[in-house]
Amino acid sequence: MASKVVTETCLEDYRYSFRSDILSGKVAFITGGGSGICFTIAEVFMRHGCRTVIVGRNMEKLKKSSETLTKATGVKCFPAQADVRKPLEVIAAVEKCLQEFGRLDIVVNGAAGNFLCPLEDMSFNAFKTIQEIDILGTYNVSKVAFDKYLKDHGGVIIHITALLHLRGTLLQAHVGVAKAGIETLSKHQAVEWGPKGVRVMCVAPGPVEATEGYNRLTMGVSADQIRQIIPIGQIGTRQEMGEICLFLATDMAGQLTGSTIYADGGIWMANGNE
Ligand code: HXC
Repeated sequence: MASKVVTETCLEDYRYSFRSDILSGKVAFITGGGSGICFTIAEVFMRHGCRTVIVGRNMEKLKKSSETLTKATGVKCFPAQADVRKPLEVIAAVEKCLQEFGRLDIVVNGAAGNFLCPLEDMSFNAFKTIQEIDILGTYNVSKVAFDKYLKDHGGVIIHITALLHLRGTLLQAHVGVAKAGIETLSKHQAVEWGPKGVRVMCVAPGPVEATEGYNRLTMGVSADQIRQIIPIGQIGTRQEMGEICLFLATDMAGQLTGSTIYADGGIWMANGNE
């Protein structure tokens, strides 16, 4: 049975903090861009003049999302179907981006798998699946983008990670290991690819409202209770995550590479697994 395709919506009354043409002429390739945080990253980039390719496994969802994004922003976006675990599909998607737009400036690695599961109950294949989607997928997309374009033109790669590995979050060992691996990969990429003009950064969101990760990890705990354990007292928004990525994609972030921005209102420092 085909799964139901959730329709994403764009931000209402967008207020600009940056100049609206700050990414004008640029092209971004965003995995996981059909929904959630990465849909909004695509929207924020597009509102600043950046054409985008959104990439995922479900073409029906991608088509709907790209139409919604283009309608709201007036900027071109096209969908590309690829399973990030499969190099040939990633190569085809990157080639499609280059054929369509003739360039590729920003890569956002947002495609990720997640479910809650204690280590005790996790199958071999369940653990492996998450490593393949998250670490291998991030590696595959970065490598193809680098080989086919970034090594000759420079650019910015942003990996979306998480806080899970910082404190051994319950039921998230498989994802925590993967996100830690991605943060390590970013350091190696930053050192090896820096001389080619490529910066590589990670953004690790804390709780972000209106996302699948938030719904799953908060497990019915109320928003008020969540706010009480966040030092700044505010749950993150998708727009904030988009704008952090926007900043990282500009020359203002020219000194930033090989590190992680923990975009979490301070929650990881203040809380454990209690
Ligand atoms: C235990 C599970 C499981 C579950 C799947 N598996 N779901 N095990 N509990 N809930 C096991 C399966 O039984 C199987 O193992 C193996 O994982 C692979 O499952 P498949 O369905 O065959 O794989 P696939 O279709 O490739 O991918 C399944 C999936 C994926 C990894 C679950 O569909 C997925 O993650 N979807 C959700 C995407 C998502 O929400 N992404 C946002 C992430 S947010 P066996 O042994 O049976 O073969 C995020 C941020 C977190 O990561 C932090 C937020 C604050």
